[in-house]
Amino acid sequence: MKATSLSRHSFSRRLKGAVLSLAVFGGTAVAQAAQDQAGLIAQGKYLAEIGDCVACHTPQGGRELSGGLPFETPFGIVYSTNITSDKETGIGHYSYQDFYRAMHEGISPNGNLYPAMPYTSYHLLTDADTRALYAYFMNTKPISQENKDSEIGFPFNIRMGLKAWNLMNHEDSVFTPDPAKSDSWNRGSYLVNVLGHCGECHTPRNAIFAMDPTAHFQGTVLDTFEASNITPEELNRQNWTHEDLKQLFTKGYSRKGTVFGGMYPVVYHSYSHLTEQDMRAVTSYLLDNEADIEALPLAFNGHDKAAPGYNTYMGYCAGCHGQDGEGRPNVAPALAGNATLDRTSVYNAVSLLLNGIVSQHYNSTTSFYAMPAYADKFDDQQLTDLVNYMRTTWTAQKADIGVSKVKDIRTNMKQSVH
Ligand code: HEC
Ligand code: HEC
Ligand code: HEC
Repeated sequence: MKATSLSRHSFSRRLKGAVLSLAVFGGTAVAQAAQDQAGLIAQGKYLAEIGDCVACHTPQGGRELSGGLPFETPFGIVYSTNITSDKETGIGHYSYQDFYRAMHEGISPNGNLYPAMPYTSYHLLTDADTRALYAYFMNTKPISQENKDSEIGFPFNIRMGLKAWNLMNHEDSVFTPDPAKSDSWNRGSYLVNVLGHCGECHTPRNAIFAMDPTAHFQGTVLDTFEASNITPEELNRQNWTHEDLKQLFTKGYSRKGTVFGGMYPVVYHSYSHLTEQDMRAVTSYLLDNEADIEALPLAFNGHDKAAPGYNTYMGYCAGCHGQDGEGRPNVAPALAGNATLDRTSVYNAVSLLLNGIVSQHYNSTTSFYAMPAYADKFDDQQLTDLVNYMRTTWTAQKADIGVSKVKDIRTNMKQSVH
């Protein structure tokens, strides 16, 4: 996070410098135009953050926006591209029309884009926001980096084939606010559905790989993890408050647990940059409620020492998560009232025990240990007992997970391509 904010500062200093020197040497009209342009670029940078372009267009350990990160699609592996302002290998040669078509129609000057690029969400961007994004991208640091060819088999390697998919799956139109809702709710909807493209992970896909409009935000298994059900019904059932969601999106953890898997980059690169006002708009939309919500106490129903999961928990887990699931600062999060445990779906509760979670930094003062993987340590019965134990001890869920469910998750789990 340090590197990002540093480069942001030096960038805006450069802009201010340019505006200043123009004001001194040129006429006020020229200075005004430069200031407008600087404002547009700064706005475009913010929109690019909220759109999370960096997360997908930056290779692991590589240079920002230079492309090359792999994406698994039903057709094969697709690599993101270099979207720096480099004229040969990036998008520096794009006209505004080229950029508009890539973002709204999924068509680049080289042909149709695979829907791993979420134009299926971005296509509702307003014209003004598309212009600001364009101004920003034409002014990023150019990086010369050739794009990688996709590993897609015949006949899907013919980009023309995508045209039919495109026509079936979305019409180009602009975001239309819901007149029955407030401005803040509508702003939140725009930030979540269009720029945030949250549905690309959280909405299940139908038979032709399009987001299913009848199951908006109902959650779906991605690979190692499931993008949770984030409908207002589910978030309110779990007693998420505006403050909890704000903590989660700014720091990566809240009293209801941490973000991990594909959700971590969303927070790290994108939603941690939301302004105060936009944050409230987002949480109002997600909770479908603008009023303050009371935070109920986190559940701890007491230990049942006779339950089969009890000894396993005390032996393997309590050292980090606390005897009573209260968590330990800079070691491990609390399990009391934890949202991952308090879900109807136990996919993530099981998969994080099988695979563990790599050590993640949350801000300059908080990082947790890595969560160990227990796939080789526990059999399906032990895992089932443990998950049932945690759910009955720290949530209102029942001990109703059967061993066949756990076995099924272990057998069918896919690993992430990143
Ligand atoms: C979920 C991952 C993802 C996100 C988020 C994403 N992109 Fe992409 N983008 C891709 C992939 C993958 C491709 C390559 C698709 C292909 O080759 O068909 C791509 C292609 C593009 C292209 C066409 C590039 C070319 O070389 O002609 C542009 C322009 C682009 N993205 C801009 C953006 C901008 C701007 C944002 C942020 C607002 C963004 N992308 C966010 C995955 C993503
Ligand atoms: C070495 C310390 C450590 C041990 C031992 C450990 N965990 Fe964890 N656990 C963590 C950390 C750290 C996280 C959060 C990782 C992240 O998201 O950054 C975590 C996350 C979790 C979560 C998800 C909570 C959330 O919202 O992030 C659950 C559930 C969990 N652990 C259960 C267990 C169980 C059950 C055991 C024993 C079998 C166990 N852990 C053993 C450190 C530990
Ligand atoms: C790349 C895929 C991906 C995208 C994009 C994504 N999410 Fe997630 N999200 C996940 C996964 C996986 C989880 C489950 C792991 C976890 O709890 O952090 C999750 C969990 C969550 C949770 C529950 C966190 C918890 O602690 O229980 C919320 C709330 C959430 N996402 C909101 C959003 C919003 C809002 C957006 C859009 C800005 C978004 N997500 C975009 C993958 C994604």
